[in-house]
Amino acid sequence: MNSSTQTIPAYTRVPRHVAVIMDGNGRWAKKRFLPRVMGHKKGLDALEDLCRTCAEAGIPYLTVFAFSTENWRRPADEVSFLMGLFLAALQKKVAKMHKNGLRLKVIGDRSRFPAEIQAGIRDAEALTAANTGLTLTIAADYGGRWDILQAANALIKEGKSEISESDLAAKLMLAEAPEPDLFIRTGGETRISNFMLWQMAYAEFYFTDTLWPDFDSREMHRALESFQQRERRYGRTSEQLPPEQQRP
Ligand code: FPP
Repeated sequence: MNSSTQTIPAYTRVPRHVAVIMDGNGRWAKKRFLPRVMGHKKGLDALEDLCRTCAEAGIPYLTVFAFSTENWRRPADEVSFLMGLFLAALQKKVAKMHKNGLRLKVIGDRSRFPAEIQAGIRDAEALTAANTGLTLTIAADYGGRWDILQAANALIKEGKSEISESDLAAKLMLAEAPEPDLFIRTGGETRISNFMLWQMAYAEFYFTDTLWPDFDSREMHRALESFQQRERRYGRTSEQLPPEQQRP
């Protein structure tokens, strides 16, 4: 896969890959005097809508941060609700995803998840593996540093003593996907929170105060419009860019 630090990726009006931190579920619920977990439930609906919007817009890869390595530290009942929601989503939504031609992938350290979730993930990935529509990747028990470390350790196991950028990139989770062109974080925070650290080298960042359950198709189109106005220089000058990539 092309590296944004080596060559300028071909210009595309629509991002090849969108990465999203779906933040603000808890606050969405709190504002409505509902338990936090209701925000996560609404958040799952918002994710379903976003998949549809991305597929319609011709975006091939969508990766969302559902559960970080640090999220295990949340109150036990919230962690267990999120696990239950994940399992229910795998059981209830995968058939529909498959019908819509969507390919599902999960990245992260699955070993800490309950066995039935691990099995659900395996089945869902196998069922949708040959689909050619949107690739939805769910990052669960994922951390950007963890990803870089597991890649480095894989290379050490192979006996490598010196490695190149492309050696390491090839061992990352999601090595087959292009690097994200657009990173979206909802909920008003402006942090990367240990998401895809390596792959985000030249991603365009878009932050919005909108809480995740309220992030609808209109909001996504706003993010895409903002992306289309960016001049992506990859360290070069404006004049060095192909004309279609220059912005006034
Ligand atoms: C951040 O909001 C959200 C999460 C930690 C969980 C994201 C999960 C979903 C959107 C559910 C759907 C996904 C799957 C795959 C089942 P927060 O709780 O940090 O919100 P806050 O900042 O307002 O407290």
